[in-house]
Amino acid sequence: MKVFDKIADVQNEIAQLRKQGKTIGLVPTMGALHEGHLSLVKRCVAENDVCIVDAFVNPTQFNNKTDYDKYPRTVEADAKLLEGAGAAIAWFPTESDIYPEPDTRVFNLGPLAEVMEGPARPGHFNGVAQVLTRLFDIIKPDRAYFGEKDFQQLAIVRELVKNYNIPVQIVGCPIVREADGLALSSRNMRLSADERKHALRISKALFESLKKMDTMSVAEVRKWVCDEINSEPCLEVEYFEISNSLTLQPVENWSDAENIVGCITVYCGEVRLIDNIQYKKA
Ligand code: PAJ
Repeated sequence: MKVFDKIADVQNEIAQLRKQGKTIGLVPTMGALHEGHLSLVKRCVAENDVCIVDAFVNPTQFNNKTDYDKYPRTVEADAKLLEGAGAAIAWFPTESDIYPEPDTRVFNLGPLAEVMEGPARPGHFNGVAQVLTRLFDIIKPDRAYFGEKDFQQLAIVRELVKNYNIPVQIVGCPIVREADGLALSSRNMRLSADERKHALRISKALFESLKKMDTMSVAEVRKWVCDEINSEPCLEVEYFEISNSLTLQPVENWSDAENIVGCITVYCGEVRLIDNIQYKKA
């Protein structure tokens, strides 16, 4: 595996690979890698001649300075994991390389960005669009891999490449969970042992709620999940929306859409965790 930081070096390598006719897959990450990320990397390795993974804690997508400062940075461990997963190139860009000057671009991401994480983290998705368009422009990958863990982000990335005619195929990959159900996240390493125990209530409530579809309305399930999680003092639901999986607009009835997703964000102490569940009709 080759490791780069400078854009010029990674582009030079890609130019050689392109001359040999190789297909290129990209996995954008913010590092602090875990099995969730590695599932994307393994899929990318399997589907492309060359898998490039970048790890860059993108400042423009953080609307909270403490969250940015506290975001874990584990470059050496990340490089080892990427090598083990079969990545051909690990790229750790520097901030001045990605943003030689402040990025003032404003992206039109439509109604998808106006719900859930949109109002909860103003500017977040614009920052995601800024960094991804930079990465896509620099690497020009054939495919790029994203997790359904960040369900809204995946929907917005699909919208972004469609609206801005970016020639890359977006591949969505399922959520990877711990054996007990907690969705893997780089932020989990900030949880105390006690918080980690309580955080389990989030995925448990989501899974339990699947069984309630037959007997409860959408509004009742929504309330049940929030109450179930909020009854643990160290947990606080920021939002839980039950929505059409394609438009991300809230549904009122289980019959309102073919595919329905429940997206949740919960503060566990100071750590902001997100998860989601797909409601399938029996
Ligand atoms: P990050 O949180 O590091 O996640 C990188 C990718 O890994 C995302 O596509 C995310 O959905 C996926 N991922 C994280 N945890 C996962 C899990 N448990 N199961 C499956 N996939 C998982 O998302 C970002 O970084 C950034 O916003 C980024 C797209 C890199 C732009 O900066």
